[in-house]
Amino acid sequence: MGVLDKKIAVVAGGTGSVGEGVVRSFLREGAEVVVPCRSEQKRERLQRYTQDVAEQRLHLYPAIVSDPQSVLDFRQAVVDNFPRVDLAVASLGGWYYGYSLHRMSFEDWNRVMHDHLSTHFLFLQAFVSLFHDHQDQTGTYIMVNGGESKLPAPDAGVVSIAAAAQKMMSKVLAEESSGTNIRSYSISIMNPLKTRDRGGNILDEWISAEQLGQYLAQLYAGNVARADQVSHILHTARDLQYPRAAGRA
Ligand SMILES: NC(=O)c1ccc[n+]([C@@H]2O[C@H](COP(=O)([O-])OP(=O)(O)OC[C@H]3O[C@@H](n4cnc5c(N)ncnc54)[C@H](OP(=O)(O)O)[C@@H]3O)[C@@H](O)[C@H]2O)c1
Repeated sequence: MGVLDKKIAVVAGGTGSVGEGVVRSFLREGAEVVVPCRSEQKRERLQRYTQDVAEQRLHLYPAIVSDPQSVLDFRQAVVDNFPRVDLAVASLGGWYYGYSLHRMSFEDWNRVMHDHLSTHFLFLQAFVSLFHDHQDQTGTYIMVNGGESKLPAPDAGVVSIAAAAQKMMSKVLAEESSGTNIRSYSISIMNPLKTRDRGGNILDEWISAEQLGQYLAQLYAGNVARADQVSHILHTARDLQYPRAAGRA
């Protein structure tokens, strides 16, 4: 039995380098996993990558989570097809490198803020409101973040600014969820992750995207250290320990 048996998880960014590993781990842990996809090519890529573990529990929907109407349509499709959502993960993002703040164009600023921050806002709003609609006001919301929220990088500073705001979004959500059973987490991974896209250019101690998914599943189950805290900072695979896992899974 997996820790996510019979649970329903929605993973925004599930077609990305990190998200696909999270999706794969959640499937291995027994969840039904729902992923919005904005391209047919990415949809097929994720299906191929998970076909050995999916057992018809991977559900892909055409949707663009950065578009307000599309994310609402996606929410409705989830409501129509699933009894509830237990866990929502936002592994959204990408990267920007080019100009320091005083040189970057307003268009670039707006695009990065939209992709990195407004997209998080739209997805959070759609699925946290769904958690509030549950009779028992239950659900777990997890945002995946990078080290840039703590480490400003020249010529990529806008990404750091958006990442710092994402972290605050998780904290605000936690405050606004008081009195409910809704839990909010922000996971910051301080090193690059081992992903399929990165290929062999990696260090052994880095966490893999699948290991991150395993951590999120164990966090959902309350098996990690400090599971009651909003912010979790991970550096290397040594940080992945599940002291409370025995007997609970
Ligand atoms: N990669 C790493 O080594 C690493 C390390 C530490 C932390 N992180 C964090 O992990 C998170 C995900 O990063 P990643 O490397 O997986 O990025 P990625 O490979 O670029 O994937 C990003 C995902 O977000 C989706 N997305 C991005 N902008 C969107 C938009 N405007 N509308 C709809 N969907 C959008 C992408 O959809 P498409 O698939 O359709 O493009 C993709 O599924 C980020 O917060 C990053 O900081 C990454």
